[in-house]
Amino acid sequence: GIHTACMAGSWMSVVYGFAGFEDYGGEYSFNPHLPKEWKKLSFSLAIRGALLDVTLSQNEAVYSLKEGSELELSHRNEKFVLKAGEKKSFSLKKKLAAVLFDLDGVVTNTAPLHFAAWKKMADEEGLRFDEDMNKKLLGISREASLEVILKENGAEWSAEKKSAWCVKKNEIYKKSLETLGEKDILPGIKKLLEDLKAHGIKAALASSSKNAPMILERLGISEYFCAIADAAKVQKAKPEPDLFLEAAEKCGVWYADCVGVEDAESGVSAIKKAGMKSVGIETTVTLPNADLRLSSTAELTYEKLASLMED
Ligand code: BG6
Ligand code: MG
Repeated sequence: GIHTACMAGSWMSVVYGFAGFEDYGGEYSFNPHLPKEWKKLSFSLAIRGALLDVTLSQNEAVYSLKEGSELELSHRNEKFVLKAGEKKSFSLKKKLAAVLFDLDGVVTNTAPLHFAAWKKMADEEGLRFDEDMNKKLLGISREASLEVILKENGAEWSAEKKSAWCVKKNEIYKKSLETLGEKDILPGIKKLLEDLKAHGIKAALASSSKNAPMILERLGISEYFCAIADAAKVQKAKPEPDLFLEAAEKCGVWYADCVGVEDAESGVSAIKKAGMKSVGIETTVTLPNADLRLSSTAELTYEKLASLMED
């Protein structure tokens, strides 16, 4: 005997899963991801009286209209129309199209300034705060950082006190940024930004810092960035992928063609959850989950980033 419901389930896992087919309110799209071991996947779909053939290999997706006069489809984020008998192919080969940078610890080293501002608060409030605790704050938001400090001290504050200190901490931090300038760009970053530009690769910022646009201005490198993801607007902070996905979307680049660069564990997790390749800069903490681990930003080159797309 056969189990027809099971067969339908298998078909669905292949078509909705590996071919990434979606029917969203009558809009049909594909986002194929074949397992490395698969040479080819092909199937037909009857959609609104039309017959669509889909053939996927590791390097290419081919859509052809066998029956019917016209069908509108999307491959990833690209819309296209197939007329009767027409065929359209898209490359599935990964190519580096954008590099998404974390800010603090990757573009500039503001960690000591964040530390000094939190330390001032801790001293005034009689809380314990040291360099080790500061490492736990890497990459996480201002509000989440305060929660970590309070938890480590077993302290409980009212919502009003917490929000007042977040404002005050930021004022102290911003004051310390007044002398920030080109000299504070981390080694290799300016050269990398220039190389990316020369190769037509976009750069964007995916930082948890709400001060990011102002910091880029101070460093004098805003012009290199086509987009800055807005930490105040995304729903979920790192380690969730929202900031990286927003940065990719703002640059108009498909997420799989992006590489993210981070110095924090929360950031590497965010990049991985976003389905992107990750580079970990291990100046402060080790980042064993990063696809490429470097001990300093000075080792970051266009060639290394581009080769990450080859495997
Ligand atoms: C991250 C830092 O980039 O930004 C964190 O690593 C910081 O330490 C966070 O808390 C938020 O920054 P800001 O500037 O919005 O307080
Ligand atoms: Mg960082």
